[in-house]
Amino acid sequence: MRKPIIAGNWKMNKTPAEGALLVNELKPLVADAECDVVVCVPATDIYAVAEACKGSNVHLGAQNVHFAESGAYTGEISADMLLALGVEYVIIGHSERRQYFGETDETVNKRTLTALNKGLIPIVCVGETLEERETGKTEEVLRRQVVEGLKGVEDITKLVVAYEPVWAIGTGRTATSEQANETIGFIRNVIAENFCPKCAAAVRIQYGGSMKGSNAKELMAQPEIDGGLIGGASLKAADFALVVNYNK
Ligand code: PGA
Repeated sequence: MRKPIIAGNWKMNKTPAEGALLVNELKPLVADAECDVVVCVPATDIYAVAEACKGSNVHLGAQNVHFAESGAYTGEISADMLLALGVEYVIIGHSERRQYFGETDETVNKRTLTALNKGLIPIVCVGETLEERETGKTEEVLRRQVVEGLKGVEDITKLVVAYEPVWAIGTGRTATSEQANETIGFIRNVIAENFCPKCAAAVRIQYGGSMKGSNAKELMAQPEIDGGLIGGASLKAADFALVVNYNK
């Protein structure tokens, strides 16, 4: 009942021309996908990639959005600016933004509420660091990120949560499928307790962290895992198509 969603996160990679080329290569490879397919691209690529996505099942996402309507926020991009270019999804609170750019649960919350209010679909990232996992803080951290980050959200089913253990991102070290399943189950329970059980059963929760063609099938077979947020393996059309077509 939860439609799987596989999203690529290109991070700070690809020029507009390279991005459009990737999507043009990707389209025929994923045309029969049974999941939602999304590419989250750098802001400078949005215009070119939107053109390439037209008429296909590849949906467009951004990697951040500011919470204000407009104004004196040098370097920031508003929801209306993204919507005007055909953006549907937006990653919010990626661990790299939390780690390097001062993103907090509070700013994640503000961005999420603005995105929802404007009709963008947020992909809200949560995840523990290695130190937090090793010191037994995983559940405490995830509970805080979910409760604070999603505070005030009226319909949680309008967003996607991405569980990305920080120690698995870009490291080649994937959480085992059981670990990922169990932790995503925990997140779903937190949502049930703090929002509503019915919404918790319907909200899509992705796994992210070194997910690729060779492990996608096993991860996606887990009952709690509804998709993936893919970094490294989304940078080549053939690699990303293997993840999208995990069930073929
Ligand atoms: P990775 O990145 O697939 O390269 O580990 C995932 C992410 O950061 O979204």
